[in-house]
Amino acid sequence: MDLFEYQARDLFERHDVPVLRGIVATTPEEARRAAEELGTNVVVVKAQVKVGGRGKAGGVKLARSPEEAEQHARAILGMDIKGHTVNTVMIAEGADIADEYYFSLLLDRANRTYLAMFSLEGGVEIETLAEERPEALIRVAVDPRTGLDESVARRIAEEADFPVELRDQFVNVLVTLGDVYREADATLVEVNPLVKTGDGRIIALDGKVTLDDNADFRHPDRAELVDEAAIDPLELRAAEKHLNYVKLDGEVGIIGNGAGLVMSTLDVVAYAGEDLPGTPTPANFLDIGGGASAQVMADGLDIILSDPKVEAVFVNVFGGITACSEVAKGIRGALEQLGDKASKPIVVRLDGNAVEVGREILTEYDHPLVTVVETMDEAARTAAERASEALSSSSTSGRN
Ligand SMILES: Nc1ncnc2c1ncn2[C@@H]1O[C@H](COP(=O)(O)OP(=O)(O)OP(=O)(O)O)[C@@H](O)[C@H]1O
Ligand SMILES: [Mg+2]
Repeated sequence: MDLFEYQARDLFERHDVPVLRGIVATTPEEARRAAEELGTNVVVVKAQVKVGGRGKAGGVKLARSPEEAEQHARAILGMDIKGHTVNTVMIAEGADIADEYYFSLLLDRANRTYLAMFSLEGGVEIETLAEERPEALIRVAVDPRTGLDESVARRIAEEADFPVELRDQFVNVLVTLGDVYREADATLVEVNPLVKTGDGRIIALDGKVTLDDNADFRHPDRAELVDEAAIDPLELRAAEKHLNYVKLDGEVGIIGNGAGLVMSTLDVVAYAGEDLPGTPTPANFLDIGGGASAQVMADGLDIILSDPKVEAVFVNVFGGITACSEVAKGIRGALEQLGDKASKPIVVRLDGNAVEVGREILTEYDHPLVTVVETMDEAARTAAERASEALSSSSTSGRN
């Protein structure tokens, strides 16, 4: 999960990284009151979006009075920055910047280490710097067992030829950023710019932090960091049911077991729909995993059928540890549980362990919406055709 800048600022503060005060606001009036509360001559109004280049897009503005902060907030709130709508701004104390540096610590998967990067030339886009002046960007591999400790920080300071009179302070700041990385289970901590102020203080003026979702269980308080406004409501519901669901844009709902099978099902359905009227495509990714119980099947079908775009559903299950007979019972149980909510054609392809019994259960059940098809290709085509038929009939009725 990526954090907003204000969340990174709060996290930094809790780990004693030097930061400036900042107050979030969601209305221009709140922004004015925040500037009054900060009480500094200069404040900065900063768009809170999880995308880089906010400054260049006009999302970071200096204000010399609370009134000016309010005006800037009015202009920035609602702004679209690279497809992200600004719902929140942070009003931050203005810094007297003497120098801007770049720092980041990240997970280097290929080399199985952490990687610290630093440049005396910060504030600019790091990709540009890395390309145009790679020698200005210092890279130091960091042993994950020790993390970014004082010796690593000193090495960075030396390699960068960091101003000697500020070295101790600089080393301390880097060590606190290393603490953030380790204690928060981050995969990225980036500060651009890390600044030196006119009075010789080193401060993190901007923060980008990515937290490792695999470590969420160690951080029970983390749920409140999630930006629910940015999550698709169906994905949110699916997550509550612990379903592996990703909303897509098409009309054929997909349920399968195993991520690989579901991925290839998406491809086969997209291919089958290519030449059909209305060109139906997959509506979602949903992997119900190993134990496809009736409850999981019902939850999955329920989510998929709540998507108003869905016109047909394709259940593609390969019975391995879970026998197809269990899957078939799951489908039956799910349909009984859903009742009238299940209103779209459902194409089922079962294969593998106990496939004969599974098919028999569904044939016997003889539900009007369920069609059992033997092969994956044929089933994908059938599901795409059902969706296509529904699409053409709704577009005809739309014209009448
Ligand atoms: N609190 C502040 N006081 C003074 N100047 C600031 C402050 N915050 C940011 N700035 C100035 O604005 C510039 C851009 O700010 P910031 O780094 O936060 O956003 P950005 O880099 O444009 O966005 P992103 O990091 O998302 O690409 C900084 O390089 C700095 O010069
Ligand atoms: Mg920045």
